[in-house]
Amino acid sequence: MKEGNEKLLQANDQQWLQDVIGKFKAKMEWVSVKSKLKIPYTTVNGTYDDRATENPTGDLADGINWWTNGFWGGMMWLMYHQTGREEYKKIAEISEEKLDRCFEEYYGLHHDVGFMWLPTSVANYRLTKNPESRKRALHAANLLAGRFNLAGGFIRAWNDLQEGDTRGWAIIDCMLNIPLLYWASEETKDPRFKQIAMKHADTAIDAFVRSDGSVNHIVEFDPEHGGVVRTYGGQGYEEGSSWTRGQAWGLYGFMMSYIHTQKDEYLQTAKRIAHYFMANIPEDGVIPVDFRQPVEPRLEDDTAAVVAACGLIEIAKVVGTYEQRLFIDAAVKLLIAVDKRSDWTQASDAIVQYGSGSYHVKKHHHPIIYGDYYFMEAIFKLKGNDLYLW
Ligand code: GLY
Repeated sequence: MKEGNEKLLQANDQQWLQDVIGKFKAKMEWVSVKSKLKIPYTTVNGTYDDRATENPTGDLADGINWWTNGFWGGMMWLMYHQTGREEYKKIAEISEEKLDRCFEEYYGLHHDVGFMWLPTSVANYRLTKNPESRKRALHAANLLAGRFNLAGGFIRAWNDLQEGDTRGWAIIDCMLNIPLLYWASEETKDPRFKQIAMKHADTAIDAFVRSDGSVNHIVEFDPEHGGVVRTYGGQGYEEGSSWTRGQAWGLYGFMMSYIHTQKDEYLQTAKRIAHYFMANIPEDGVIPVDFRQPVEPRLEDDTAAVVAACGLIEIAKVVGTYEQRLFIDAAVKLLIAVDKRSDWTQASDAIVQYGSGSYHVKKHHHPIIYGDYYFMEAIFKLKGNDLYLW
């Protein structure tokens, strides 16, 4: 139903969609020029920072290796696809080339190579067949495959943190990284990558998804013998709680595995998480940082809303007519709420203003680049002429 998304919208929602697309085009025209040499993460007094040159913590995984460094390039490719304007393509290429430093340094890399090289090199290769982009993406896929732990059947998330030994740690977010492995198998016809991705996804169904459809953020496995050791609350409120961006990663991530493999269990898992998520959307459509956080303070995270909307729209594409409306209506509700709270003016380089990195950090309600990326992706998906980067 690629072309049919718009038809599922009520007449006033169709008008709203056209307006938002117009606002994206107007805003990106000047933001892209202003930030063309940067790889932004957040804003400082309304102006984008630059993770290609700045490293606020000094940690190896920060700076150029920061996990969000693919989203700016991804936004540029989405805009290029929508408008055909060469300027967007050039800016995407600039940020992709900057990421080569990560391969040279190597030590700062982690499992988020999917988030980094799918919206940059894989996007470039899909659109232009650039052989350098193919090489970068295959290099990243091999690094991701190399993090697979046979005992337990999971992909290791991070390198050791201040918390100590994380050899057995896997996180739900990885469901968005494994499409890099599906792509590598599709591209090379070598099934190893896909086998690793599916094994990780199968493990995640058992270890991350709870019986009510909510998901854990972090699961620790025994890296020597397999088996779950324990779970952690991670970026959510506490162990056993329900970090909303994690729910959204699970929802959209399992849908991605379904898109690449057609394995029905992945679709059913994405739908289970989606039903849990939809049942918890507040009346005003504004998503909290954690569905099980205390009532006060009311911490909110629009980035969770836009990631979930992407997954809901993808589910709507493959289900029957009655169900389609359920998923599309929920996605539209989330996106309208985000639009109302966004900054379309020149006061900020970013659009989505209410992002939150994690429940227990001091700073909340600030722009984070993936908020803008997934908002844009969801809007073009709704229109039905999106470029699928995953
Ligand atoms: N992948 C980490 C996060 O969602 O913040």
